[in-house]
Amino acid sequence: MRLTELRVERLRCIDRLEVEVPPGWSAFIGPNGAGKTSLLEAVYLLSHGRSFRGGTRDALSTIGSGGFSVFGRFRHADGREHRLGLARQGGRLEARIDGETAALGSLVGACAVVCFEPGSHELVDGASEGRRSHLDWGVFHVEHGFLREWRRYQRALRQRNAALREGAGDDALAPWENEMAAPGESLDRQRRAYIDRLRPILAKTLADFVPELGTANLLFERGWPEDRDLAQALAEGRQRDRDRGHTRRGPHRADWTIGFEHAPRREHLSRGQAKLCALAFILAQASLHAGALGDWPVLCFDDLASELDEEHQQRVLAVARASGAQVLLSGTALPSALAGPATELSVFHVEQGRLRALL
Ligand SMILES: Nc1ncnc2c1ncn2[C@@H]1O[C@H](COP(=O)(O)OP(=O)(O)OP(=O)(O)O)[C@@H](O)[C@H]1O
Ligand SMILES: [Mg+2]
Repeated sequence: MRLTELRVERLRCIDRLEVEVPPGWSAFIGPNGAGKTSLLEAVYLLSHGRSFRGGTRDALSTIGSGGFSVFGRFRHADGREHRLGLARQGGRLEARIDGETAALGSLVGACAVVCFEPGSHELVDGASEGRRSHLDWGVFHVEHGFLREWRRYQRALRQRNAALREGAGDDALAPWENEMAAPGESLDRQRRAYIDRLRPILAKTLADFVPELGTANLLFERGWPEDRDLAQALAEGRQRDRDRGHTRRGPHRADWTIGFEHAPRREHLSRGQAKLCALAFILAQASLHAGALGDWPVLCFDDLASELDEEHQQRVLAVARASGAQVLLSGTALPSALAGPATELSVFHVEQGRLRALL
């Protein structure tokens, strides 16, 4: 899919920006603090409903403005076009699809954008929450009904946690555990099916990006013991859960890791290797998405040149070229790795939240 038009208002340092995004790749170049990341963040917001940077949604609105809006026009591979909008005003977030108010989940389902940015290494060496949400973004797009099950599970989990904090007895916990069991098992099945599809794609990408680490294996931990069903695991954990005041087992605690022949644990990876693993995961997800839905997500690379050495930039860009996906990238200077085989490239200069086409 392609982003053909982008409008951003009052997002960080961007007061007002409108751009027709040309066919081919686009590079956004400018000094530190110019608004390059903010621009890619705007595109990402439409596809995720949240930023890839930590912090609250309030921090996204230009200081003193009390709200922001992003509009993007996406053209799918089959020719369909959607006008997508996300706005925050008075503390409320409103999503729109083709002029109509829509649920945030529908907006996220209507386009696909992946982004590699300076914080992406956290996907490998950070907290499990980030890994889960990346995984679930992919599962949500390819496994039917995932969001519905996820919501059912979260609702029951919140209730069980509230009951635990009140010191509820077994009789009061059991109904919530029953409520959690079916959607919880279903989330797990869908995640596993996705991981099984992702594994060979990821292994191939990693062999290209970090061959020195040897063969790679993507391991999935579902969040409760493999030899129990979820209802059983929850019932067994009641007393410890009461002591802790929250539910310690279940798909909300799922996690994944990448183990290598020559680097079995995360701690064995250099920072650059961790970044390359994160990037391989993101690109593998994009590739799976394309295989399942017939449409490549938009690929965003924020500050690629400062994150990776020249050789690895070349490898990443070669994967992106071979995919035929739209690429949006940013940097303080045009990455020299772009001087490879001809790609239709438009260059924009970014300064103080404003944009000027250069080439
Ligand atoms: N809520 C906000 N309101 C106003 N300005 C903000 C807000 N949040 C961030 N900024 C400012 O927006 C500017 C652009 O930030 P951004 O991260 O997009 O820059 P960048 O071009 O990616 O820079 P770098 O090259 O350093 O990564 C910065 O000067 C930052 O201080
Ligand atoms: Mg930046």
